[in-house]
Amino acid sequence: RRRVRAFARTVLVVILVGGGAFYYVTQQDVHPGDQLPSDPSKPTLVVLGSGWGATSFLKNLDTEEFNVVVVSPRNYFLFSPLLPSVTVGTLEPRSIIQPTRFITRHKKRKVSVYEAEAREVDPIKKTVTFRDQTDIRGEAGSVTIPYDYLVYAVGCENQTFGIEGVTKYGCFLKELSDADKIRTRLMDCIETAAFKDQPDEEVDRLMHMVVVGGGPTGVEYAGELHDFLIDDLRKWYPEVADRLRITLIEALPNVLPAFSKQLIQYTESQFKENRIDVLTRTMVKDVKERSVVVQDANKEIREIPYGLLVWATGNTSRQITKNLLAKLPETQTQKRGIVVDDYLSMLGAEGVYAIGDCTATQYAPTAQVASQQGAFLAQMFGKLGQKAKLQRQLADLRASSSDPVELEAVVKKLNRVAKLTPFHYSHQGSLAYIGSEKAIADLPFFNGNVASGGGAAMLFWRSAYISTLYSVRNRTLVMTDWLKVKLFGRDVSRE
Ligand code: FAD
Ligand code: NAI
Repeated sequence: RRRVRAFARTVLVVILVGGGAFYYVTQQDVHPGDQLPSDPSKPTLVVLGSGWGATSFLKNLDTEEFNVVVVSPRNYFLFSPLLPSVTVGTLEPRSIIQPTRFITRHKKRKVSVYEAEAREVDPIKKTVTFRDQTDIRGEAGSVTIPYDYLVYAVGCENQTFGIEGVTKYGCFLKELSDADKIRTRLMDCIETAAFKDQPDEEVDRLMHMVVVGGGPTGVEYAGELHDFLIDDLRKWYPEVADRLRITLIEALPNVLPAFSKQLIQYTESQFKENRIDVLTRTMVKDVKERSVVVQDANKEIREIPYGLLVWATGNTSRQITKNLLAKLPETQTQKRGIVVDDYLSMLGAEGVYAIGDCTATQYAPTAQVASQQGAFLAQMFGKLGQKAKLQRQLADLRASSSDPVELEAVVKKLNRVAKLTPFHYSHQGSLAYIGSEKAIADLPFFNGNVASGGGAAMLFWRSAYISTLYSVRNRTLVMTDWLKVKLFGRDVSRE
């Protein structure tokens, strides 16, 4: 009995200490301290975007030596790797976002955040014009501000190859609103399929979910959809659930071209087992309201009816980026995006740095690359700030004709911070969820690669994402959502 009591006491102490620490950490986040005010003598640093690149930059930046202005049409950071889970209700939308102000309010000097879309960058005059794009507008709707430095991290938009029907009838999977739209359309299709006396052929069309693009976005979405069917739809919609078909269409000979051969085969065999049809060497040529027109490996054209169409065929530059590139035709020669040097400085545009998906580099357009670039740039700006501080110190010392030893020490420090090393990307591996509690992981180890698929990779996938989520708040919400789904299943009500 004494042992039981000692054990209970230990558990109680652990709960109290753990709970106290958790409370302390969360309170640090929600009660930011005072900030230094803007200082007109410091340079203006404008950041465009609030995605992976911009957020990593802001998180790591020492703002003391700059007046920072953030402009983005989205006033939050979105943890895109978990976005496919929102499409079927495994995760709630707000669990994977973090308001930008939660990030900037913790910086040393005040940061101005504007929810607006940058419309034009003038690299000659060094100005940015941005506009309030929300439905509610005040007296001031559009403004132009000068910058000393510009961090350009606007990402890119969905590639449609000019097929009009894609935007009109399909759903993308890039923004939070896209995931919401998919979830609503999916439930609409299922409810309509279950409508009294719905003709058989129409049920088949409505219950056919077509995913175009076999990259990681398309594959992860197909996996999540399969889980929804198995775990939830069969229980709540027994009359139509088994009519649900998932078809993944990919133009290349296989899905996931960036993963190892072994993992491609593993994914394709898992999909076969899960009855997800994979049509490779098949290219979508047109999108109609109720069907997609495809050209298969034999160059034959046919139509595939669908209820829900998810379009995930990769990226293309945003209009603002295209306009910016057009202003510097001599140095910016890549259509794919902005060309930067080894220090992420945009060629031909003084004071402009570009990071993430909007750039044309040797790296894949991934969150990993964007966040490492953001952190690198923050470090570089940290050095710029230190340099400015030391230069002021040096001028003061010279003016007061101080001790030469002290002067030399400052000069040495100045030389040290002036040394910059180029950006180096360190690949941490690729992960993707493929459904049925299985994931694939391509991990670099000891100069080689380890490829793993299955339940263990799934646990690794979950723990890797939990640890990279932005805040304690995000981690708590995501883990709670996972637990909620385990206990109660996914919510099938239509919002
Ligand atoms: P984004 O994160 O897209 O941010 C761009 C920002 O710019 C946004 O805040 C946007 O609102 C803002 N913006 C847009 N237009 C303007 C404008 N005119 N003015 C000002 N701001 C503007 N990568 C991985 O490494 N691992 C993964 O597991 C992974 N999973 C993914 C899952 C999905 C579903 C998707 C869609 C992508 C995934 N990626 C993943 C890729 C990753 O999300 C991108 O590579 C990453 O978001 C790029 O970061 P970025 O900062 O360049 O752009
Ligand atoms: P993607 O560019 O990786 O894949 C798009 C796929 O669509 C390609 O395989 C392409 O062949 C195919 N395609 C293009 N046009 C087509 C057509 N008309 N018909 C049929 N197929 C067509 O795009 P995705 O998946 O959106 O990823 C974008 C970026 O984000 C990539 O760099 C990816 O690595 C990253 N990402 C990473 C994830 C992860 O690591 N888990 C998850 C999601 C995205």
